[in-house]
Amino acid sequence: MESSTGRWVSGENFFGREPELGILERRVLDGNHILLTGQRRMGKTSIVRELGQRLEAKGWIFLFADVEGAASAEDLIADLAQATHPVQPISSRLRTGMRHLFNETVEEVGALDFRVKIRAGLNPANWRRHGEQLLRDCAGQDQKVLLVIDELPIFLNRLLASEDGAKRADEFLSWLRAVFQGFESRSPILIVSGSIGLQPLVQRLGIPDRINYLDPFRLGPWNRDTCIACFNLLAENYQLMIEDGVAAAAYDALGLGIPHHVQSFFARLREFAIMNERDILTENDVGTVFRTMLLGPPGQNDLVHYESRLKDTLEYDNYNIAMEILAEAATQGSFSHSAKICLEGLYAHMISGVASHISDVLEVLVHDGYLESTDSGSSFPSRLLKEWWAARFRDHYTPLEERGNEHD
Ligand SMILES: Nc1ncnc2c1ncn2[C@@H]1O[C@H](COP(=O)(O)OP(=O)(O)OP(=O)(O)O)[C@@H](O)[C@H]1O
Ligand SMILES: [Mg+2]
Repeated sequence: MESSTGRWVSGENFFGREPELGILERRVLDGNHILLTGQRRMGKTSIVRELGQRLEAKGWIFLFADVEGAASAEDLIADLAQATHPVQPISSRLRTGMRHLFNETVEEVGALDFRVKIRAGLNPANWRRHGEQLLRDCAGQDQKVLLVIDELPIFLNRLLASEDGAKRADEFLSWLRAVFQGFESRSPILIVSGSIGLQPLVQRLGIPDRINYLDPFRLGPWNRDTCIACFNLLAENYQLMIEDGVAAAAYDALGLGIPHHVQSFFARLREFAIMNERDILTENDVGTVFRTMLLGPPGQNDLVHYESRLKDTLEYDNYNIAMEILAEAATQGSFSHSAKICLEGLYAHMISGVASHISDVLEVLVHDGYLESTDSGSSFPSRLLKEWWAARFRDHYTPLEERGNEHD
């Protein structure tokens, strides 16, 4: 197993997740469509790709489309087309359906060119027809097909931000559901995945039934033993000497086994050992690396996306509310019920219906794994994330309950 802090991992570099893979595989074999959710960097893309490889070994066709960049239904159908490119029977049917776009003398086009050509032939009037044809061709294959649409919620959020966004998002989700519900065979099977909550999104739009054919599966963190085993295996593979207890100390410092955080911690400890010419790492080093590297400048890149993703997802007012909630929870240990009342008071004149905005934002923050509900309010399950947000705000933050009194 190699250390990895970048994109998805597979094969030898894919660690653990046996129980989750088993459940997902069973559900797919039983003919269920799935909504795979999980906090950022939990390993969603890795696990669906791993599942795809397993099923390919059993004779399935695996199609994977990342639709993060799609801005319209036409873009998304073009992404699906690109995913089918290696599967000749499907892609050539699509090509025949749009034969005017393809120069007959040119036999082969690469996947990207294929996408560009298909995209050029799609418009608001025909994407449904071509999209449905593509999925019908998947259903018509002798082999069963698993189709993954990764980052669908990002696409929907982008649609929502466009003109008539709510209507377009509804049209797309209704179309997708109708097509999949129209198939009699247990193929293609659809997995929709993403870190931003699709459920809160359809709830907000008042159309929760549009995704009710998807069986939800939430990918959780690794448990303590898995994190320790992964850490120790990495240390062994890189011949990094660590004292007993180092892996456990790393887990305790993180507070939550998000695979990417475990990998980052290992990568930073290894750099630390190299920089300081250390033969063996101690539990003390774990604390130092956590403070100076994970929370410090080298770790910023890993964590800054948590903030940018919120900015991309939430509207302006809700983004500001989210920042207030996270800053309070990070610096005060939790976003308490009384802090919530203070926040409502502070924003009452600026945002109408502020209480329901706060509830919506909290729902997103809990759903997306930033916070969890506790008896005293909402707090961070991940110590790393808590400390990171706290470091962002600590020096210029007044607790909500003190702010109302500032004018007295
Ligand atoms: N099963 C695994 N074994 C080893 N490392 C993993 C595993 N799953 C995730 N990781 C680590 O987490 C990182 C992110 O994985 P991946 O891209 O699959 O997560 P994701 O949930 O899809 O992330 P995003 O929310 O950004 O889409 C990988 O680069 C790797 O460091
Ligand atoms: Mg992903």
